[in-house]
Amino acid sequence: MDNMGTFTPPQHLPAWTALAAHAQRLAGQPLSALFANNPDRVDRLTLTLENPTDLDQTMLVADFSKQQFDDKILADLIRLAHETRLEEGIYRFFDGEPLNFTERRAAAHMAMRGGSPPPSGSGSDTRAMRTFAFDLREGLLAGSTGKTIRHLINLGIGGSDLGPRLAVEALADPRGNIVGGVELVQVDFVANVDPRELDTVLARADAATILFVVSSKSFNTPETLANAEAARQWLRSKLGDDADLGAHFAAVSNALEAAIAFGIRPDRVFPLPDWVGGRYSVWSAIGLPLLVAIGGAFDDFLVGGRIMDDHFRLAPFEQNLPVWLGLVGLWNSSFLGIQSVAALPYAHGLRSFPSWLQQLEMESNGKRTLRDGSRTETDTAPIVWGGAGTIGQHAFHQLLYQGTRKVALDFIVPIGDADDPRQRILVDNAIAQAAALMAGRDFDAACAALARRDLPAAEIERLAPHLICEGNQPSTTIMFPQLDAFHLGMLLALYEHKVFVQGWIWGINSFDQYGVEHGKEIARALASGKTGEQDASTVQLAQLAEEFRRYMR
Ligand code: F6P
Repeated sequence: MDNMGTFTPPQHLPAWTALAAHAQRLAGQPLSALFANNPDRVDRLTLTLENPTDLDQTMLVADFSKQQFDDKILADLIRLAHETRLEEGIYRFFDGEPLNFTERRAAAHMAMRGGSPPPSGSGSDTRAMRTFAFDLREGLLAGSTGKTIRHLINLGIGGSDLGPRLAVEALADPRGNIVGGVELVQVDFVANVDPRELDTVLARADAATILFVVSSKSFNTPETLANAEAARQWLRSKLGDDADLGAHFAAVSNALEAAIAFGIRPDRVFPLPDWVGGRYSVWSAIGLPLLVAIGGAFDDFLVGGRIMDDHFRLAPFEQNLPVWLGLVGLWNSSFLGIQSVAALPYAHGLRSFPSWLQQLEMESNGKRTLRDGSRTETDTAPIVWGGAGTIGQHAFHQLLYQGTRKVALDFIVPIGDADDPRQRILVDNAIAQAAALMAGRDFDAACAALARRDLPAAEIERLAPHLICEGNQPSTTIMFPQLDAFHLGMLLALYEHKVFVQGWIWGINSFDQYGVEHGKEIARALASGKTGEQDASTVQLAQLAEEFRRYMR
């Protein structure tokens, strides 16, 4: 049992039964039909977040009207939220209660952006990290040869990579290392233990100017530690055995002693609290590379997140963006049987958003054990994938149009430079894809399209079936003025809270990741040559790998 009082699996609640009946009612109904005779639909199913200090300024809009639901379903989804006592969950979440009930700790990442008070325990003070980051930006840190540090390489994986990587890609100045006469610090990320990733970054690097930041909450992740060790060997080979390598390392970790034991100077180990989970950690000292890349705008990032926190905590469910995003996702997954969600950011800067979202959703809610230890009777987190538009249109959208699978789509659309025609193409494409994937193209429309090409009737008849697109791919479009630190903060916090809503209603713990541990154990056994307990196929593969190694030596 958890610490959250009596628990009723959501399937046993009245709203769930009502929603299951709605799903039957809607079965087979085309999405476009939901718009017919319903002139208010778009208005009623669009949520807008206004600037609290300037109500004329819209900060973010989410149009849910292309989702396969209607007012009655929304009302019952909100009823389900109430029946699962989501208000109480949100209250306890922001109050720092140990909602991560398996690991008996709070999940209080909002505290890192001022959205809630920090629970007790150390690690929430980022002042030392901030001073260090600004010193680095201003060229006040020197490496072992006396040369100024100008290149930060983050060594981390999962939450210690994806959040800061995404944010740096989205926000760092794309104009290179010298902007307006000011030299910026180059920021790179290495996550993969495949030597090629580190080698590629190091191939164009000057050892004397590098700072490696070993980002690992646990300081126990084999891939990160192996890369950190490889980085140390490389530095030694370039700078000599006597070089003071401590000048080229810093760490962000909750395991201070392990980081110091690795050889990081104690004053360069920046803590993060145990109540900040890896996939929620970009707001903490794990954001060091972002702070180095964007300086003071880091605070705008935090403010954006905090505004979403306040909205989530205070807005009634009828107007609450994360609540709607969570409920609509839950409706698609648990009632409509939609197994995958494609995140489609129409922004090059958000190209890593799908990877970040994969960890956020799949590591948080990819679970089947409920709070009371029983097994869920419904599907939980979907398979999350995606890619930046318009690139994906020329790759995987074909399946969305004519494949056999239903996929829910999240279009993320920053408007950007109003005067750049390419930006206009980008945004128009996002809007058009959402429309076309919903409306589809029937036989008659296919014939009309072919007729416009002046084809003979027999040819039209032959080709038309191949042009049919069934449509009915449900989507949400999230639009905001521009991809800056403030809006990125809002966007990431929006999805974080969406995940909370879903985890709470499904009745799972969104904040542990025991499954991941399982695979790690087998990898550890293989590393120590213990294959005895594995199945015959695994033993064979381990032996084959060994043979190939012998052959390659
Ligand atoms: O193995 C999964 C995981 O624990 C993630 O939850 C985490 O973000 C990642 O590994 C990296 O962990 P760490 O920051 O402790 O190196």
